[in-house]
Amino acid sequence: MGLVRSSGKGWKTAATGLAVLIVIVLQLLGLGVGWPQEPTEPRLDKEFDKQEKIYRSQGADVPSGYVTNRGLSDYLDLLPSGFCDALGSRGSSDRWLDIGAGSGQAILDYYTPEDVAAPGKKCAGAGGKVRAVAMSIEDRRTDTWQQHAARLGDDRIRYLSGKRLRYYSPEEIGKFQIITDVYGGFSYTEDLSVFLETVLSLLDVDGAFYTIVQNVDLEASKDNPTKGYQTELVDAGGRGVKVCSWLKKTTCAKVVCESKSDWDSPSELINIRKVCSDVSVPRMKLLKYEAGNPPGRRFQLEP
Ligand SMILES: C[S@@+](CC[C@H](N)C(=O)[O-])C[C@H]1O[C@@H](n2cnc3c(N)ncnc32)[C@H](O)[C@@H]1O
Repeated sequence: MGLVRSSGKGWKTAATGLAVLIVIVLQLLGLGVGWPQEPTEPRLDKEFDKQEKIYRSQGADVPSGYVTNRGLSDYLDLLPSGFCDALGSRGSSDRWLDIGAGSGQAILDYYTPEDVAAPGKKCAGAGGKVRAVAMSIEDRRTDTWQQHAARLGDDRIRYLSGKRLRYYSPEEIGKFQIITDVYGGFSYTEDLSVFLETVLSLLDVDGAFYTIVQNVDLEASKDNPTKGYQTELVDAGGRGVKVCSWLKKTTCAKVVCESKSDWDSPSELINIRKVCSDVSVPRMKLLKYEAGNPPGRRFQLEP
């Protein structure tokens, strides 16, 4: 501190020059500043291109495993048990973000009046319906979405598309009390740490994130093979790390995992409550990415 104060403008200019030089040298050496924007290996680029094609696919070209129209009842089956009650306990001034919403069917179902012929859980409490935002890389809005949106207005339901979650800030889209992700960004992203960091930056303190990830080393499982999972985490020494163990190292986050080992695709249902604002997510780097629905990914925890 003394140095900065006593040395004046010349010192500051020299320090800025040195910082720029360090960044250039780090980039030349291929070391990490701004990792998501770094040049990637050609092999990974090929897989990212394939994944883009899946996102952009339309009509008969959409791969059968790429489901984009799950309704609210599917979300209730796939998300941690507290999701419906949490949504029902919120009121009309609260906000729900669904990341990787596809056609936004879950939000439409939530906003559809109760069908007497086919009653189903709507998770709508007495406080009025929360304001909902659907987010998807590609625009999968249907005519039904457009009709609902025209009737309800932008303030009640909104659809964001054209870019990934990590390119949104709280200043741009505001804060949320509930965030969901059903086979969306959490299962598809090539940068899990930045994805989670962005989710937590968009959550209010006391807000909660509900998600699911399939085919991972489950918290409840005893055996710990490091190979064969769709999403695989390893430490610096190459030893397997459970996704929930990694999540639990995040500061200001209370993580609860529900392992579903008897499902066709063994899955971890994850609930993360933000308990304070000083969030820090342990960094990981991408080792492998194979395009798919969802893709195969291998991440390594940075030391
Ligand atoms: C398989 S669909 C799931 C759609 C919906 N949740 C459902 O269950 O029907 C995957 C969705 O995740 C979105 N997605 C993937 N990665 C994303 C990211 N990083 N940010 C935002 N959306 C993402 C895709 O654009 C798509 O809308």
